[in-house]
Amino acid sequence: MTTTDGSGDLQRGRTTPAARVYLDHAATTPPDPGVIEAMLPYLREQWHNPSSIYVEAQRTAQAIDEARATIARCVGADPDEIVFTSGGSESDSLALRGVLAASTRRGRHLVTTSVEHHAVLDTAEQLERDGVAELTIVDPGSDGRVDPAAVAAAVRDDTVLVSVMHANNEVGALNDIAEIARLVRARNPRTAVHTDAVQSAAHLGVHVDRLGVDLMTFTAHKLYGPRGAGALYVRAGTPLAGQILGGGQERRLRAGTENTPAIVGFAHAMALASDRREADLAHERALQARLVDELPRRVPMLALTGPRRLADRLPGNVSCAVAFVEGESILLALDLAGIAASSGSACTTGSVEPSHVLMGMGMPAELARGSLRFTLGRDNTDADVDRLLTVLPPIVERLRALSPVPTNDPPAEYRPWLDAETGRG
Ligand SMILES: Cc1ncc(COP(=O)(O)O)c(C=O)c1O
Repeated sequence: MTTTDGSGDLQRGRTTPAARVYLDHAATTPPDPGVIEAMLPYLREQWHNPSSIYVEAQRTAQAIDEARATIARCVGADPDEIVFTSGGSESDSLALRGVLAASTRRGRHLVTTSVEHHAVLDTAEQLERDGVAELTIVDPGSDGRVDPAAVAAAVRDDTVLVSVMHANNEVGALNDIAEIARLVRARNPRTAVHTDAVQSAAHLGVHVDRLGVDLMTFTAHKLYGPRGAGALYVRAGTPLAGQILGGGQERRLRAGTENTPAIVGFAHAMALASDRREADLAHERALQARLVDELPRRVPMLALTGPRRLADRLPGNVSCAVAFVEGESILLALDLAGIAASSGSACTTGSVEPSHVLMGMGMPAELARGSLRFTLGRDNTDADVDRLLTVLPPIVERLRALSPVPTNDPPAEYRPWLDAETGRG
């Protein structure tokens, strides 16, 4: 997607701003203009509290009912099985805390993976620290995908919840959630299965029966909707205790006056994503294939991360690690050149921790420090891809020239990652 902010070019002293290129759709997506239009009446005129009794409030309540029905239809659920939240983090938290709290008599064992989003991992770890959960963390393979048999092998008689993400937000690895759910159930039919589908919902059909899940997290702002609205799908009969208490909203599972404009925008965005799915998918796959193909050719010692087969990876996601350069330095240089991208890892107070996802996949920490993530969206063009392919190689070359260590002789442990032929397969 190109925008004409052009601050990068101004910093280089040009007078005409060139278009900026946005390659960070996994972080958030621009709200679709139709989504904004759909939201406006609920900001301007229909702002009433849907819990009130008068006619204006009831109209607002009806808009929420309609949004719930639309979203339920998009994921193959019953409207009563959709709980609105503020977004993906809250939905993940509600799934983990809510199931554990409602299942104390049956057990407290929780299974998840080392490459989950921090909304799941940090919640799981806090539940363990607080003595609420006993945790088993399963590592993925070196391509970031989780082996369904390994997840099932971790399930015990007292396992109350398994939480495995559908698509990884950093390396785009797609997990076979249907197979995971099938094997988990075969081992313990009483174990609930949760998936974080925040990244996949934008690109793939996320149908709760086809995935076979009891709980599913998704959020509006990753699919061209607004920030501030998400949902947790909760299959009828799944034990879940509300975690935000107060008003009786969302069938007592999530108190708080509803964010009507954001909920309406969320439903509009979901319906649009369904309508456009095939066209968007083909477009993003084509751009993704070009980058996956060209990047390792143009940038020496660049390791693609995540699954090699496009069918095993999230459309639009291209992730890699560049040896001997900090990912953050590359990102700053890309920003100056007009390209917005991400490293995929968290950056805290100046010290850049290598990505927990790449570490979970077994990548050496030093190589993981060079991680980059480009995530394409429906408005990106071939010209955007050309621009990245032109701009990135000289940036890497320039930064490597500044490196205090020799950059032409990668250590042996980098080899399996850098060698595309013999690599992670
Ligand atoms: C996989 C995954 N889960 C959860 C979240 C959190 O979603 P939200 O920003 O809506 O809280 C994100 C956001 O990056 C994500 O990528």
